[in-house]
Amino acid sequence: MTTVRPFACADLFAYNDVNVDALTETYGLAFYLQYLATWPEYFSAATSTFGDVCGYVMGKCEGEGELFHGHVSAVTVAPGYRRQGLAKTLMRELELVTETAHDAYFVDLFVRVSNALAIGMYEKFGYTVYRRVLDYYSGDEDAYDMRKAMRRDVAKK
Ligand code: COA
Repeated sequence: MTTVRPFACADLFAYNDVNVDALTETYGLAFYLQYLATWPEYFSAATSTFGDVCGYVMGKCEGEGELFHGHVSAVTVAPGYRRQGLAKTLMRELELVTETAHDAYFVDLFVRVSNALAIGMYEKFGYTVYRRVLDYYSGDEDAYDMRKAMRRDVAKK
C-alpha cells in the first residue's frame, strides 16, 4: 500500500531508490529546497508502508495572463512500484493543485523525445505535444513541450 502526502525536507535523504533511474535527473539539494520553500503544494511524495519514498512529483506555477500555468518539473516512480497507477495519482494531484489552489489555464511539462513510455503515458493523461524544443537537454536531445488544458481554459486554447 502506498500513501501520497506532502514532500518533506527529510525525504531528500530517502529518495535514492527513485532517483537511480537514468531518466530521473538528480539535482543539488538547493534546487529541491527552493521548490519546497516556494511551491510546497506542488511537491508530493508517494511512500510505502515502510516509509520509503517510492515516487514523487515536483512542480511550480508560473506565467502571466493566459500563460499562467502549472509546470511539472519531475515525476518519477521507483522501479519496484511502477505500473500500479502511482504516476497517475501524482500527476492528478498536481493538476488538482493547479485548478483549485491557483486556477491556472494549463499544465505543461518537458519530456525527452526518446522517452516513448512517458510520452505515451502523458498522452493517456490528456496531454498533447505543443512544440518541440531543440537541444533542450544536455547531450543535444530535443524535448517535447506537452500541455493539458485546465478547467479555466474554457475554450481549450
Ligand atoms: N509500458 C507501457 N505503458 C506504460 C508503462 C510501461 N512500462 N508504464 C506506464 N505506462 C502507461 C500506461 O498507459 C499506464 O496506464 P495503465 O497501467 O492503465 O495501462 C499509464 O502510463 C500510467 O501508469 P502508472 O502506473 O501511473 O505509471 P508509473 O507509476 O509506472 O510511472 C513513470 C510511470 C514514467 C513515471 C515511471 O516509469 C518512471 O519513473 N520512469 C522514469 C522517469 C521518467 O521517465 N519520468 C518522466 C520524465 S518526463
